[in-house]
Amino acid sequence: MTSSDRGQFTSRFGFIMAAAGSAVGLGNVWGFPTQTATNGGAAFLLVYLFMMALLAFPMLIAELTIGRYGQSNPIASLRKIWVKNKPVAAMFGVIALLTASMILSFYAILAGWLIGFGLAPIADVIGLNGVADWLVTFGTARNVSLTVLFMLMTVFVVRRGVSDGIEKWSSRLMPVLFVLFIALIGYIFTQDGAMDGLEMYLVPKWNHLNASLVVNAMGQAFFSLSLGVGAMMVYGSYLSKDINIPKTAGQVAIIDTGVAFMAGLLILPAMFVAKENGVQIFNELGELISSGNLVFVVLPALFDSMGLAGEVIGIAFFALMVIAALTSSIAMLEVPVSCLQEEAKMSRNKATKILGGTILLCSAIIAANFNALFDLVATASTVYMQPLLGVVWAVVLGWIWSRNSLLEEIRQGNPEIEQTWFWKIWPWYVKFVCPAAILIVFAYPFL
Ligand code: PFF
Repeated sequence: MTSSDRGQFTSRFGFIMAAAGSAVGLGNVWGFPTQTATNGGAAFLLVYLFMMALLAFPMLIAELTIGRYGQSNPIASLRKIWVKNKPVAAMFGVIALLTASMILSFYAILAGWLIGFGLAPIADVIGLNGVADWLVTFGTARNVSLTVLFMLMTVFVVRRGVSDGIEKWSSRLMPVLFVLFIALIGYIFTQDGAMDGLEMYLVPKWNHLNASLVVNAMGQAFFSLSLGVGAMMVYGSYLSKDINIPKTAGQVAIIDTGVAFMAGLLILPAMFVAKENGVQIFNELGELISSGNLVFVVLPALFDSMGLAGEVIGIAFFALMVIAALTSSIAMLEVPVSCLQEEAKMSRNKATKILGGTILLCSAIIAANFNALFDLVATASTVYMQPLLGVVWAVVLGWIWSRNSLLEEIRQGNPEIEQTWFWKIWPWYVKFVCPAAILIVFAYPFL
């Protein structure tokens, strides 16, 4: 397949929406508020912002640049740079695609829950109360059925390719999500208890700071910007050569951080509003009860408090959550699909179906052994694999890629870059600081 046969994003706006769509997902609206609430609030927020700006953002530029240079799937892009050791390059590409698939296999279960919470009020309204209960009650049959539904949606979009599927849907839906968030935050601030949540979110208590908080914040930042697994590499490969990568990456990172920040601004106050309304959020020791479920307890309680309007807003909110999850899951699936399509010369349609089916099978296994597998798969893939693969990409960019060839690539779309402070700092920063910092964060608890 020549590069001209490959799909491409048709506009900068479309790319930003798709890349931001990949970044903005359950990591922002479920992972970040949950982690912030369990890790003591503002201390986590600050370390997270620090990780975003100082580690994840430079790595986002790195991944997009590697991908655009390669003009191909991550395996081929890495091979093109690491010419002296193609098998090792390919091996890391394969590890990335396996990690992306692993993430999708647990992500689809979570997204399925969101579908359940979005459909339940509809079932209630039409009198199917039993169905409504089933949709929001934990159980293997529900988990698997809703996961199947979500995977079908993912496969549907990815089969249509880049501009017609991924770009079109992301551009339509991302702005709506933004507006709904702002409206809900406006509402929650009028409620009793909201200020307690705001205080927890914004006023740091440094005694919460510890090594595991830092590791979690790093994993969360990598997860949120979809780093490490080749998703941004493959999106970079669909990016036209006249785009200024650092600037565009900056916009994507700002949107992503903005949505996470807004989600915290909604969920933490909503926790305390729910508490005020009699929902049990903390145990006697003041610890959060079932943190993973936080969003699914707190938000329905919020919508209930809003009367009839709450029903409609609840449906809209969960629908948008599903969409945010979908614009991320399509990026995850795109990684193995692009590899199979280009490396094994398979049609996109066939590759998407085969991979969608295989990953669904993994999801079903996780759902059937939820307690044993869910946290394990989520932690292994996001807290460990994503940053560790980030180390590999930093090494590829900093130590293996020739500086001239890197400059030539990044200069396209940014002809004056050689004279900027960005160019003086960033390649060295990615070469030395990023890998060292990631490894130090991991090593610290053992020192
Ligand atoms: N960034 C997504 C989120 O915050 O939900 C998760 C994600 C998407 C991770 C795509 C990895 C990926 F390739």
